[in-house]
Amino acid sequence: MLDPKNTNSTAMSPPEFNVDMYADEVLRNPIPFYDALRDAGPVVSVPQYGVYAVGHTAEATEILNDNERFIASAGTGLVDIRDPGLLRPVSFLLESDPPQHTLARTTMQRIMSPVFVRSCQSMFIDRAEALVDELLDKGQVDGVGDIAEKFVLNVFSSVVGLELPPGPAIAITTMALNMQGPMNERSMQAYKDAEPHLAWFEQAQARESAIPGGIADLTYQAEDAGNLPEGFAKNMASTFLAGGFDSTIGGIGHTLNLLAQHPSQWDLVCAKSQLARAAFNEAIRLNPPFRVIYRMITRETEVAGYRLEPGMKIGVWICAVNRDPNLFERLDEYDITRKGAAASMSFGMGIHNCIGQMLARLEAESIISALAKRVSRIELTGEPEYQLHNHMYLLDRLPLRLIPA
Ligand code: HEM
Repeated sequence: MLDPKNTNSTAMSPPEFNVDMYADEVLRNPIPFYDALRDAGPVVSVPQYGVYAVGHTAEATEILNDNERFIASAGTGLVDIRDPGLLRPVSFLLESDPPQHTLARTTMQRIMSPVFVRSCQSMFIDRAEALVDELLDKGQVDGVGDIAEKFVLNVFSSVVGLELPPGPAIAITTMALNMQGPMNERSMQAYKDAEPHLAWFEQAQARESAIPGGIADLTYQAEDAGNLPEGFAKNMASTFLAGGFDSTIGGIGHTLNLLAQHPSQWDLVCAKSQLARAAFNEAIRLNPPFRVIYRMITRETEVAGYRLEPGMKIGVWICAVNRDPNLFERLDEYDITRKGAAASMSFGMGIHNCIGQMLARLEAESIISALAKRVSRIELTGEPEYQLHNHMYLLDRLPLRLIPA
C-alpha cells in the first residue's frame, strides 16, 4: 500500500538557506537569524552543514511527533552519533527510539513522578530563601554566577543525588552540549577544558557515588530490579547533567534579565508570587535555552510539500518556532500574563518532551518568588553578556543590583 507520508517523485527540494547558523554574530544575536529562517519557508536546506532546518510550528510539530520518519537515535545534535570518533557522551534515553525509549521513559517517569517533585518543594524554598539572605548582604550580584548557577547547583545535586563541584560539572556540561553542534573550535576548546575532569566524571556517575534517595540512586535500584537495561543508570547521570543543569541555569538567567528590564513585570511578581512561574515560562518562550533539536530522516519523505532525503538531519529551531506570528500576538513582548506561554516548544514536544520540566519550573519558581518577597527592584548595572555556545542560548554574566523591599 502507498504510504501517504512517502514522497511522490515530482515534489521539489526545499529552498537553500545560506546563513551560517553557528557564526559568532548569529550565536550572540540570534533573533534576526530566526526571523530570516521563518521567512525563507516552512523547510529549508542548509548546504554549509548538510542539514534541513525548520522554524514554523506546523512542521516542527509534524517532525517531533513522528518517530518513524524522524528518529533520535542518530543523535539530537548536528552530528550523527553513529559515526566513528564521537567525543561527547550519548544519552541512552534522549538519543533512542521506541521501543527502547518507551521502556526507559516509563521507568524514569515513575521515578520523577509529580509526588517526587512535590517532595522537593520545601527544600527548594528553604535553600532559595537562604541564598536570598546572602545576596541581599552583597547588593551587587551576578545574576548568572551568584544566583542561577549557585541555586541550581545546590538543589540539583541534592535532587539527582550526586556530588557536583561547580568547576568540573560545568566543564563537562559545556563540553557535552557544545559538541551537539559542529566540530568547530568552540566544541574542541570545550573538549580540552573538560578533559582534565573526565576521570572525575567517570567516578561521579558510579553506583557508589549515588546519594541514597536521589534520582541517580533510584535509577540504579530500577536497573537492579530489571526495569532498565544494564548500564542505563550510569548513563542517566550524564543525561541529567547535560539536560537539566545549564538549561535551568540559562532559563533562570533569562528570567532575571527580562524582569530587570521590565520593572512593571517585576512589580506583578512582587504583588502575586504565583506569577513567578509564569515569569519563567514567558522568559523561556522568548529565549529558549536549547536553540535547536535535531532528528535524522529515515526515508525519502515530504514535509510542507518538499522532498526530503533520507540520511540527512533536520533541525527544529525552537526560538524561531516560539516566535511564530501564527502562535502569539505581540510575540516579541515580555508579558508574564500571556496565555499559552507554558505550552511553548522550549521543553520540546512528543515522546522526548522534557522529563525534568516540573523540576525546572519548581526550581525557577522557588528562587524567583524568594527574591520577590525581599527585593523591591532588580536593576541592571551593566550590559548582559552571552556565551558563544554551539547549542544553547545562555547568559555568561548578568550584573545586577538588588534593592531590598
Ligand atoms: C529550563 C530547563 C530545561 C529545558 C529548557 C529543557 C529542555 C528540554 C528539551 C527541549 C528536551 C527535548 C529534546 C529533544 O527532543 O531532542 C528535553 C528533554 C529532556 N530533558 Fe530537559 N530541559 C530542562 C530541564 C531539565 C531538567 C531539570 C532535567 C532533569 C532533571 C531534564 C532532563 C531531560 C531529559 C532526561 C530529557 C530527555 C527525555 C526523553 O528523551 O524522553 N531537563 N529537555
